[in-house]
Amino acid sequence: MTQFGTRKAAQRQRGPSIEPADLTLISSPVDFLLAEHLRHRSAMAWLELLPSMAPSDERRIAAMRLLDFLEHDLVLHVQDEEQDLFPILRVRAEEADQIEAVIAVLSSEHESDLELSASVRADLAVLTVDPSIAPVPRFDSFRAFAEGQRRHLAWENAVVLPLARRRLQSGDLREIAGQMAARRGLPSPVPSAFRSVLSALANRERG
Ligand SMILES: [Fe+2]
Ligand SMILES: [Fe+2]
Repeated sequence: MTQFGTRKAAQRQRGPSIEPADLTLISSPVDFLLAEHLRHRSAMAWLELLPSMAPSDERRIAAMRLLDFLEHDLVLHVQDEEQDLFPILRVRAEEADQIEAVIAVLSSEHESDLELSASVRADLAVLTVDPSIAPVPRFDSFRAFAEGQRRHLAWENAVVLPLARRRLQSGDLREIAGQMAARRGLPSPVPSAFRSVLSALANRERG
């Protein structure tokens, strides 16, 4: 069995699951985006497994979770990048970084992915109803979508996030963290640099 085949078999044994977002990482927004990419990869692995799963509760649950991921988590993630990360990175990046062309491609993929995901979501919705009455889903779109998403994630992990770590300033990261938190209806997170100071102060007061 290939390494990919072994991974798929192990994943199938664990059952359909996509970890919930780790919102405690928002105060460190680049780490949060990286963690979101891991969840995204896991969701795409499930999307590719669905065609080989027999009609069952397990497949129906996997389809429901994937539908929820595409309708909510992925939408928020694209907003995090388009409205918060990319604009600040454009300002902070240096000409030699040549990030403008990369961001332009990623932004256009965000737009086209919305259209592609609409057909994937429609087919996932088919899988969430009784298989005996549902039309046959177009599984080939799942693989194409997952492959496109993995390419997109690879560029962001290899180029965009490392550059963000190098170029963004602490004020930028606080600003991004605040906007990401507000988007999820959360209070502005306490920056990690201050968390240890606050906890030391709290300990001193207790002592
Ligand atoms: Fe993206
Ligand atoms: Fe991303």
